[in-house]
Amino acid sequence: MTVNGASKRKLVLVTGGAGYVGSVVVDELLARGFQVRVLDALLHGTVSSLLLSWANPQFEFIRGDVRDPAARGRAVQGVDAIVHLAAIVGDPACARDTELAHEVNLNGTVAMLEDAVGAGVERFVFASTCSNYGRTNGNSFADEEFELAPVSLYAETKVAAEAEVLQPKDGIVPTCLRFATVYGTSPRMRFDLTVNEFARDLALGAELVVFGEQFWRPYIHVRDAARAVASVLEAPREIVGGEVYNVGNTSENYRKLDIVDLLRKRLPDATVKFVHRDEDPRDYRVSFEKFAGGVGFKSKRSVADGIDEVIALVRSGLIDDPYAPRFRN
Ligand SMILES: NC(=O)c1ccc[n+]([C@@H]2O[C@H](COP(=O)([O-])OP(=O)(O)OC[C@H]3O[C@@H](n4cnc5c(N)ncnc54)[C@H](O)[C@@H]3O)[C@@H](O)[C@H]2O)c1
Repeated sequence: MTVNGASKRKLVLVTGGAGYVGSVVVDELLARGFQVRVLDALLHGTVSSLLLSWANPQFEFIRGDVRDPAARGRAVQGVDAIVHLAAIVGDPACARDTELAHEVNLNGTVAMLEDAVGAGVERFVFASTCSNYGRTNGNSFADEEFELAPVSLYAETKVAAEAEVLQPKDGIVPTCLRFATVYGTSPRMRFDLTVNEFARDLALGAELVVFGEQFWRPYIHVRDAARAVASVLEAPREIVGGEVYNVGNTSENYRKLDIVDLLRKRLPDATVKFVHRDEDPRDYRVSFEKFAGGVGFKSKRSVADGIDEVIALVRSGLIDDPYAPRFRN
């Protein structure tokens, strides 16, 4: 976009931008020269995650709810693209208040999208999840065509919202990103995510109880997740328009047992108790080749890097109580 021959920065609205993924996305987009506006209801009760961006003249913050038409109306004004992260995130949080989960994750997404179309927004990037696959069989890796079999309300709301986002609409280019489970340090830290939780517990000498150690999941570092969002915004519309991408790295699928092994190499005295489970509805390995081929995305960090990062964090004393409720959803 050009104004009087000079190129104008793209304005990106990041909903949920104060969150675990969102605060790193904001930082990544500002670093790449985007102008960023955040709309967030601050469910986790803190704004410290965005203080680093506060003084940046390209940054704006609106405290508001995606279910509130007035807040949405303010938020979409003059926006070129929306990265829609705001959600009730994770199975426990959605199970705690099922009505809220539906309202925010599905209805809030539809309302955001309708307002985006009305305001002439060009792109809509929707944060979905690899949990949508539920279970893959034997040695197969789920690609984007794999049957969706959500086994929690959280994933059900994401599957339903994806279907709405992908409905053709005039002018707007939607893209759905099915993120692997995220790990690593963020200004809004979460210790309820597998890698972060396991690393915290073992680094602090607690006994770790692992349920269903043989079940697979893919993982991605929070900084790579943020780079993925930026890559989509920078990719040509013709490539990413109407597409669904798994976001992660095919070589970063792990069983919980593999994560424990990586931890034990670093913490040989760790105490781990395995509680065997024959059935877990969530057991999936995922292929990330479409995103690598189509957008040229390659993750830079591994679960081993994330483990080192989180062990160092909890031992540093920078966080006084890593078990405080504000660090989980
Ligand atoms: N963290 C993961 O492992 C992971 C994996 C796959 C997908 N995702 C998706 O990425 C997105 C971000 O997840 P996260 O881990 O950062 O979670 P998070 O809970 O840290 O962030 C969510 C943010 O959304 C905000 N929010 C919630 N309801 C809102 C509402 N009604 N209006 C405005 N803001 C609202 C919260 O205040 C919070 O800041 C979510 O859409 C999630 O489903 C996350």
